[in-house]
Amino acid sequence: MSLRIENVNKHFAGGKRALCDINLQIGQGEMVALIGASGSGKSTLLRMVAGLLEADAQPGSKIVANGKCVQREGRVAPDIRAIRAEVGFVFQQFNLVDRLSVLANVMVGRLHRMPLWRGLARWFNAHERSRALEALERVGIAECHAQRASTLSGGQQQRAAIARTLVQGARLVLADEPIASLDPESSRKVMEILTKIQREDARTVVVSLHQVDMAIRYCPRVVALNQGRVVYDGPSAALTPALLRELYGMQADEFLQGSELLQSPEKTQSNNVLPWPAPVAQVA
Ligand SMILES: Nc1ncnc2c1ncn2[C@@H]1O[C@H](COP(=O)(O)OP(=O)(O)OP(=O)(O)O)[C@@H](O)[C@H]1O
Ligand SMILES: [Mg+2]
Repeated sequence: MSLRIENVNKHFAGGKRALCDINLQIGQGEMVALIGASGSGKSTLLRMVAGLLEADAQPGSKIVANGKCVQREGRVAPDIRAIRAEVGFVFQQFNLVDRLSVLANVMVGRLHRMPLWRGLARWFNAHERSRALEALERVGIAECHAQRASTLSGGQQQRAAIARTLVQGARLVLADEPIASLDPESSRKVMEILTKIQREDARTVVVSLHQVDMAIRYCPRVVALNQGRVVYDGPSAALTPALLRELYGMQADEFLQGSELLQSPEKTQSNNVLPWPAPVAQVA
């Protein structure tokens, strides 16, 4: 099991309940879309899995990633740095260091494995450089390796951010709205690369998305949040406009705007989506 979330709740200061009774299991090598309207709790959940945010201190609550406990009963594990080494995080705004070269940004993925003084001095050895170049080749931007990160297009920056998770050796890749700031062509490319690293390396990918079309096209399984609750966990192929309206009411229009789902439902049963191995749809 790549990820196990048990009995997770989150209240923010002021009493706002961002997540309610989350229970989820994601197997190694799955590609899962996390969908939900703005404010439904997607980022909160992903940040908790990465140990960047503590859940409510509630008996029995637990998050386990790659077989290691990230947090339990609202307490992040003391060895979180070692755990995080195997959890990659891709952000909407890329989070590259602008003034560093693309190659250096990708090599930063290795920092947690280096003695501190070497990391600080940004001294990377030939092996690390070749690993980073290889990762840039896989995401299709090797020719940009010497450029400053700030000179790349948004789509290229996001590909560099994915290359960084490869160099990091992340077995679980969390991507929080990685295509929200990109044009359609770059979005497609980034989703294809995420699919590629999932299929070829059996990495687990959990990607939050606003666009239900993208979720259906690239992810066999969808977990849908509404106001902090999981309202659907099942095959993406079963997500019809009618079901979305049932789950989200008027908010469904946020997902369906310009969606192919409205035009030709049969077209969205995409052939390039692998069947989800456990086709258990639960509508809560
Ligand atoms: N640091 C915080 N303090 C207080 N409330 C917060 C904080 N972070 C998130 N929230 C609230 O928790 C809820 C869930 O937020 P979250 O950012 O997880 O939603 P989201 O699904 O990622 O939304 P979006 O699609 O806009 O990114 C929202 O109501 C938000 O206002
Ligand atoms: Mg968010």
